[in-house]
Formats: sequence, C-alpha cells, structure tokens
Amino acid sequence: MFFEPKNGHGLPHNPVAACVAPRPIGWISTLSKDGIGNLAPFSYFNLVHNFPPTVAFACNGLKADGKPKDSWVNAKETGEFVYNVATYELREKVNLSSTSWSADINEMHEVGLTPEPSRIVKPHRVAESPIHFECKTIDILHLPTEREENPSTVVFGQVVGVHIAEDCLTGGLVDYDKVQHLTRLGYLDFATIGERFAMPRPYHKTEQD
Ligand SMILES: Cc1cc2nc3c(=O)[nH]c(=O)nc-3n(C[C@H](O)[C@H](O)[C@H](O)COP(=O)(O)O)c2cc1C
Repeated sequence: MFFEPKNGHGLPHNPVAACVAPRPIGWISTLSKDGIGNLAPFSYFNLVHNFPPTVAFACNGLKADGKPKDSWVNAKETGEFVYNVATYELREKVNLSSTSWSADINEMHEVGLTPEPSRIVKPHRVAESPIHFECKTIDILHLPTEREENPSTVVFGQVVGVHIAEDCLTGGLVDYDKVQHLTRLGYLDFATIGERFAMPRPYHKTEQD
C-alpha cells in the first residue's frame, strides 16, 4: 500500500508508529520552576548524538486540560531533566505515570516510586530504574503541525551524568537481559529485547561508531 499522511491511511488504525518499531521509552523526570516533581514516559525519544551524548524527546499534543505538557515546559523553564530507563518490571508504573495529572501532582509519589537525588541536576531520578542520564536542556524545537490542538515540541538535552546500576553490568558491558528495557511498538503493543546478534563493521570502526 501507499498513502500520503495528509490524505489518511484507510486502515482501521494508524500504522505509522508500528512502522518505526521498537522505539525506546524515555521515562523523563523534571522539576517545575516551583519545585514540583514530574514524571512521564515518551516513546518519541532517542539518543541523537554521542560526543557529547545527547537525547531528544517529543511532546505531542496537549494535556487533558488543554495546557502544554509539563515535561517540556519544565525542561525549558529549569533547563534540566533526567532520562530514566523504562523496564519490563516497571511497565505498569511506566504506563500509569502517563496519566494526565495537573502540574501540582508529583507522578513519582502518585504511582509509588522512590525519588532519588541526582548528582548534577535538580530533578530526581526514579530509584527503581537501573539507568539514569542527567541532562541539561540545550534546544527546544516546535515542529510544524497540521492541527493546532496537536502541537509537537522536541526537547534536546546534553547528557552530563550517567548512572548505571552495578548489577546491570556483566564483564563491563550493559547486560540487556538484566536491564530488560521496555520498548514501544505500534498500537497498544510493547516489547522487550529478544534475540540479538553482533555484526562486524564493513570498515574500520572509529570512536564515533
Ligand atoms: C509508553 C508511553 C509512551 C508515550 N510516549 C509519548 C510521546 O512520545 N510523546 C507524547 O507527547 N506523549 C507520550 N505519551 C503520553 C504522555 O506520557 C502523557 O501525555 C503524559 O501525561 C505527559 O505528561 P506531562 O504533562 O507530565 O509531560 C506516552 C505514554 C505512554 C504510556
């Protein structure tokens, strides 16, 4: 099949997200300018640069009350956020933390997670999550949108601190089986990392790879 998104897809459900799968889930914690903690999952998320490590997440649409999503507002106003890895074990809490609560509600408390202080930035980390990146906001892009009620704001953050739980390392490598990354597919589907294989590069590998 072929379709131009502006003309609709003609399928029972939009297939676009399922065509880019799996997507990592950035479980983003921020702090409002008034000091209220916030936590929400974003599957429009990825590592976009390596030196320095840089991540991006996209806030699409608005909150239930019609206001902009707290995560990008906080990341803009305070200049900081934390990426917490979403794991299979924490999947229910990841899902629950996407509830559109008002800005004065701290999702970490609401869903029964433990806030742990970061070393460099002010937003707390999710103690139960085994990997955290402390990030400084470096850019914010407002993407063109077809519908006013569905804005898209992409937040870029430079990673200034990396925490990896010791028990998720095997022989100095991050052990996927121990972390159990939770990833997003299309529709209502999620996945963990299954079969893996390594492939040597067809050219001399550099530090950039
Ligand atoms: C697994 C998962 C992934 C999500 N990914 C996104 C995303 O990439 N972008 C987005 O705007 N909302 C996404 N959402 C919905 C947000 O988490 C939700 O709108 C949340 O309330 C935003 O919180 P905030 O207002 O505190 O930023 C996702 C929800 C779930 C459960």
